[in-house]
Amino acid sequence: MKELISTVKEVKQIADNTYSLTVTLPESAGEIKGGQFLNIATGDGSRLLKRPFGIVKADGNDITVCFQLKGDGTVALSEAKAGDKLAVLLPLGNGFIIPENAKNVVIIGGGVGIFPLVPVICGNKDKKFYSYIGFRNKNCACLLDEFKKSEKLTVVTDDGSLGEKNNAVNAYFNDINNVPADLIIACGPPVMLKALKNKMKENNVKTPCLVSLEERMGCGIGACLVCVCKKSDGGNARVCKDGPVFDINEVEL
Ligand SMILES: Cc1cc2nc3c(=O)[nH]c(=O)nc-3n(C[C@H](O)[C@H](O)[C@H](O)COP(=O)(O)OP(=O)(O)OC[C@H]3O[C@@H](n4cnc5c(N)ncnc54)[C@H](O)[C@@H]3O)c2cc1C
Ligand code: FES
Repeated sequence: MKELISTVKEVKQIADNTYSLTVTLPESAGEIKGGQFLNIATGDGSRLLKRPFGIVKADGNDITVCFQLKGDGTVALSEAKAGDKLAVLLPLGNGFIIPENAKNVVIIGGGVGIFPLVPVICGNKDKKFYSYIGFRNKNCACLLDEFKKSEKLTVVTDDGSLGEKNNAVNAYFNDINNVPADLIIACGPPVMLKALKNKMKENNVKTPCLVSLEERMGCGIGACLVCVCKKSDGGNARVCKDGPVFDINEVEL
């Protein structure tokens, strides 16, 4: 993990309320796994805490994240200009580790949860991916070209304006008998991950499943305990350091 001063290369709107931000690092960040994230300053000294975002792409010293506008920090980042300097801490967290023998991987992503899944698909060319991704509506849909690298792609929306009117979890369960799965990988809002856990239980699905959690964060490096989540064995885990990726049975959702 390194703390570096990055230079903003480009900020682009990619969907309703959604932006991509590419920064150039002064040196390589080293190897980055899908599901790892960075913590980035917002460019205003009055907001001390850096903001965490999944790393979407690492290309040489250029790093891209995508984000939805939420509060002051994301608005400030959407207004960053090429040449601005932003402190960044990366790579953080464990990322998705796909076992060698998992050849067929189901991807389930909802909303901003689709972003950390892009490098999983783009970085594991020896695997076959079957992707189910959900957006609020067609104007929120983005990065579809990246997901088209999947063997099979199903896009759904809450209002049916693109693809079926459905959510990503139900879309997968409607199709479960048509796709092989050695591993399920999911990232999305807590309600989506909870629905996935419940559906797996109801349908007695024993496929190994990794989920990436989103918690409010402070330091991002395991020191402040702001991001602690409950484990199924009664213990606690720090989402930033022990995660954000966990086995679905390891954590309470
Ligand atoms: C590991 C991880 C990866 C993430 N990846 C992405 C991503 O790829 N794209 C994306 O759009 N969003 C992502 N998020 C959520 C993103 O960090 C928040 O939306 C963002 O920090 C909001 O900042 P703000 O200043 O605009 O909002 P405010 O609500 O003004 O933020 C106030 C404070 O709360 C924290 N905060 C608010 N919401 C969240 C949240 N959901 N998760 C964590 N901290 C939060 C902020 O970091 C800040 O410190 C991720 C969160 C985590 C933990
Ligand atoms: S954010 Fe500080 S311990 Fe996780």
